[in-house]
Amino acid sequence: MTKPPKSAAGASRQRTKPQASKAAARRVLVLHGPNLNLLGTREPHIYGSETLDDINQRLAQLGRGYGAVVECFQSNHEGALIERVHAAKMQKYAYIIINPAGYTHTSVALRDALTGVGIPFIEVHISNVHAREPFRHHSYFSAVATGTICGLGSRGYDLALQFALQPKN
Ligand code: DQA
Repeated sequence: MTKPPKSAAGASRQRTKPQASKAAARRVLVLHGPNLNLLGTREPHIYGSETLDDINQRLAQLGRGYGAVVECFQSNHEGALIERVHAAKMQKYAYIIINPAGYTHTSVALRDALTGVGIPFIEVHISNVHAREPFRHHSYFSAVATGTICGLGSRGYDLALQFALQPKN
């Protein structure tokens, strides 16, 4: 009698203990670009009165409700954001949510980092960039993002996270 090929034997071994290891929690990285650390005091008529900490805490809680881990990172430095994106690949993040802030309109390098690691991402803007100055109308990110949410205030982050945590996404 011929033996099953090794790969098939391996596959059947895997099937015999499906509950042995708990599935790893889904991980989502939320990246905030320059000046978003000033939320709460920065042009509140445009960006609202919530602080970045308020938003991050809400996202972490929302994530826990889905059994997911949400990590947030803000930097005023392009290179730091790029390096955080590179690290996300090793750390097996399933999704990135990013508000590139001012880098939206300038940074080929940050866009290249996101396409380079191949982690799907959603672009979020608190304000409606299309209703503002013409230099805010172009984004280097929108064409390579899963989608873009803008103008819904900080709720845009919640909606992006809910989308990212749908099992099929
Ligand atoms: C922003 C819009 C950008 O044009 C601006 O530079 C920001 C914030 C937003 O969330 O609405 O810093 O990304």
